[in-house]
Amino acid sequence: MNLRNLFVAALCIVASLVNAAEIIRISTHETDLVFRVGNDGRLYQAYLGKHLKFESDLQHLPNGKEAYLTHGMEDYFEPALDVRHVDGNASTLLKYVSHTSNKTLDGATETIITLRDPVYQTTAVMHFVAYPEVNIIKTYTEITNAEKKPVKLAKYASSLLHLDAKKYYLTEFSGNWAKEAKMSSTPLNFGKKVLDTKLGTRANLFTPPMFILSLDQEPTEDEGQVLLGQLGWTGNFRFTFEVDEDGRLRIISGINPYFSEYELGAGETFTTPEFFFTLSQQGTQHASLCFHDWARQYQLRDGDKDRMTLLNNWEATYFDFNEEKLCNLMDDAVKLGVDMFLLDDGWFGNKYPRSSDNAGLGDWEETKDKLPGKVTKLVDEATKRGIKFGIWIEPEMVNPKSELYEKHKDWVITLPNRDEYYFRNQLVLDLSNPKVQDFVFGIVDRLMTDYPGIAYFKWDCNSPITNIYSPYLKDKQQHLYVDYVRGLYSVLERVKAKYPNLPMMMCSGGSGRIDYKGLSYFTEFWASDNTDPLERLFIQYGYSFFYPAKATCAHVTTWNSTTSVKFRTDVAMMGKMGFDIKLSDMSADDLTYAQGAIKNWKRLRPAILEGDMYRLFSPYDGAHASTGFVSKDKSQAVVFVFDTYPRYGETTRNLVLKGLNEDARYRVKEINLEPNKQSRLRCNNKVYSGQYLMTVGIQAFSANKLTSHVLELTKE
Ligand code: GLA
Repeated sequence: MNLRNLFVAALCIVASLVNAAEIIRISTHETDLVFRVGNDGRLYQAYLGKHLKFESDLQHLPNGKEAYLTHGMEDYFEPALDVRHVDGNASTLLKYVSHTSNKTLDGATETIITLRDPVYQTTAVMHFVAYPEVNIIKTYTEITNAEKKPVKLAKYASSLLHLDAKKYYLTEFSGNWAKEAKMSSTPLNFGKKVLDTKLGTRANLFTPPMFILSLDQEPTEDEGQVLLGQLGWTGNFRFTFEVDEDGRLRIISGINPYFSEYELGAGETFTTPEFFFTLSQQGTQHASLCFHDWARQYQLRDGDKDRMTLLNNWEATYFDFNEEKLCNLMDDAVKLGVDMFLLDDGWFGNKYPRSSDNAGLGDWEETKDKLPGKVTKLVDEATKRGIKFGIWIEPEMVNPKSELYEKHKDWVITLPNRDEYYFRNQLVLDLSNPKVQDFVFGIVDRLMTDYPGIAYFKWDCNSPITNIYSPYLKDKQQHLYVDYVRGLYSVLERVKAKYPNLPMMMCSGGSGRIDYKGLSYFTEFWASDNTDPLERLFIQYGYSFFYPAKATCAHVTTWNSTTSVKFRTDVAMMGKMGFDIKLSDMSADDLTYAQGAIKNWKRLRPAILEGDMYRLFSPYDGAHASTGFVSKDKSQAVVFVFDTYPRYGETTRNLVLKGLNEDARYRVKEINLEPNKQSRLRCNNKVYSGQYLMTVGIQAFSANKLTSHVLELTKE
């Protein structure tokens, strides 16, 4: 060996020793995710679990499994990254290069780990942002092509996590229109379980990008280790859960690579969406509290701000309205005592008026016959009445029966050489095209410029991408699903920048497209078109695992009028409360009831909107349901109690509360009583210690069908 070789060999040994010592720790107050650099220079996930107290213990952790597995090397299971290099080689080997760790402005810690392929120079930069107090870790990856020509990304996950437990249970949230967030749990054994979507726009129609993974035992609210994960991507996503031959689990989260092989030009970087997760050692309840707190502090648009109650006209009128009817509804809004009137679908289109869902979408000019005084008149009428005015749009869509379609067929996602087929009589505009992005931004911008009094938007999206072909992307059709979402974000970014104080509801024929990236642009989401309160108990329960009440719109309507207005209102009060009903559908007593409930909801905001939400009794567990909210200082709490269809003479158990101050004393008072009715609950007007309420509980359930009670607890 000559001197030069000896020197190089020595350098290699030193480098590998340095690397071998490299331990990268990503921590919240409750969780540790630890990576180690192996002697081979690769990065391994050494640990994911409960926060470790002693830093000195980290050195004892074994390497574990490779952190961001690539296609073409020794691993035989699903990879996170699959790159087709310029020379046709499809293997990538990533070696550790460096890492940094810095505090972010909002008090989190961001760790950035750079990995590089020594042969192809492809880099993968992994970002981990740990929010210590709220126990959430956000992670995403940047993939850079350092070759001289474009490469193809066949797989490009946001995150790969390894877990090792005796057993795994996956809880998924499946559904369809009006049946959102149906929960079911299944054990994971050898092989793969995939949760994904290929719908493009209304991407979550069958399942939202979120899951619960329970380790060693089936998920429970208050015990056991559970991981709650969610992808921030308003489009096709895929979660792959794969158990290997040794019973170890890997979870790969990211954009669905289905029909999305992405060409990455020389020097370009692909940034994946963010994956958010929390690991709780105390079951799902604690994990949800972490997600809610994190969302309100860091992610949800205006998470720290108040929300407006509203009256929506959709179910009161559908498309059949004029100025007079709308003004009458505004009067109803005032009578009810809500903050805003929201005008829904049907206000636009002249050549093809929007009098049903088969025409007019795309032509965002007020229909002259219906609204001769335009939106100005409506904003003025609302202002006169002392309420705000909001408006519905569905700006990404077009009906073939529209002027927009006639003028700009080149802006529409549709196959040039086949018959068109429609979902709700409409097609999707091609948001990968910057001109279409300008058009969509222009819809909001025009309305806000002409009518600066508009105080709220409901942004709908009723169709998945059909007839999949972008006239703009030409030979890069496989970019459409990804570029569509990027186009949407670029529009939403512009809207948020120009109108930073404009609250917006994210809607998609119900909740067909919610996720936490979308909710960085929207203040709330429409949980479901299904407002039957019995169904809503399940839908709202499902979403409560990830979303706080503040983000979850819940309206009182005429769906399932066999239930009382009280029952319907009590269910809606557990979310961002609203109404979509004519006062003529309510009795005088119902109106009095609703007025009181709105006042109560506003008064109880410190608990319902800003406090901690506790799932006290699951609707999946029988003929009852209950949710409690406790203000952060634990001085105020409100408990919603429902009996759905109990058996005749059923013996009910006490309702045990959560989240109170053990040592404090609380007066329990039944509120939301119907006019002239007295509380018949034994606990009404009694004082209990927090400990008693959380240990023995109170008799709040009954064997009476379709009854509900709202209890307010005030610290004495
Ligand atoms: C969707 C929404 C509804 C309503 C209609 C209007 O279905 O979910 O709330 O806005 O569109 O067409």
